[in-house]
Amino acid sequence: MTDRRIAVVTGASSGIGRAVVRDLVQRGTRVVAAGRRAERLTELTEQVRTAPGHAVAVAGDITQAGHTEELLATAEREWGPADVFVAAAGQGLPGTVLGSDPERWERLVEVNYLALLRQLRVVAAEFRKQAEPDDGARARDVVVIGSTVGRQVSAANPVYGSTKFAVHSLVEALRQEVCHHNIRVTLIEPGFVRSGFQEAAGYDAAWFEAIAEENGPLLVPEDVADVIGYVIGRPTHVHLDDIRLRPTRQRP
Ligand SMILES: NC(=O)c1ccc[n+]([C@@H]2O[C@H](COP(=O)([O-])OP(=O)(O)OC[C@H]3O[C@@H](n4cnc5c(N)ncnc54)[C@H](OP(=O)(O)O)[C@@H]3O)[C@@H](O)[C@H]2O)c1
Repeated sequence: MTDRRIAVVTGASSGIGRAVVRDLVQRGTRVVAAGRRAERLTELTEQVRTAPGHAVAVAGDITQAGHTEELLATAEREWGPADVFVAAAGQGLPGTVLGSDPERWERLVEVNYLALLRQLRVVAAEFRKQAEPDDGARARDVVVIGSTVGRQVSAANPVYGSTKFAVHSLVEALRQEVCHHNIRVTLIEPGFVRSGFQEAAGYDAAWFEAIAEENGPLLVPEDVADVIGYVIGRPTHVHLDDIRLRPTRQRP
């Protein structure tokens, strides 16, 4: 079910989103790859030029009005209506309630929660509209990257974690709202993944290496992409809707 599908992937300039683009184009999927760093997106589309699928880059910030509409319109212009949306754009924030920088809270909530909520509204409405003529005969997929800290409270990382708690409830609510149209809204909850995430957020490198020492080998973005490829490749009537994957040695 993954080949010849048309996907939009956010967070494609790094980490999980980038690995998802690579994985999908290998499966023959046509992909709109989004993120703010245009040069990294261009580099990615060049790297996958000989793959069975295809990727085009659209640079932009998920908090910008009209960005999601632009991504869907690009897919439609290039190949036809998208039927897969992978929301991998997101940011971390080091620190506790007392120890994190309150100047960064608003932006974190804006990026991880509000912008995602707006994106999901636009995409779900579009997918539902598409499903009407074919009576939902085929699946359309919305995949959202949550986190293990959106399921279990992390006292070390509660501000970031609470944005993921919000995301998790949103994903299940949207799943219930649109599942009758065969729109599969899937939550992926990774544990520790070695990606650009730690540096972008400013997590202490020594702290992270101690985590890696204790819990590693950590996941790599390709591990997550592999699971997403499997999930969206299931037959229309099968939905693996909530998947937690952690490094084998990660505790808790
Ligand atoms: N790494 C982990 O341990 C881990 C664990 C669990 C869950 N997650 C979640 O997995 C998702 C992907 O993270 P990752 O590990 O792949 O991190 P990453 O390597 O830092 O990738 C994050 C991506 O999000 C994009 N992004 C960030 N802010 C954006 C904005 N305002 N507008 C558009 N794009 C934006 C970045 O692109 P630009 O900077 O180019 O915009 C980048 O492509 C996030 O939701 C994260 O919370 C990560």
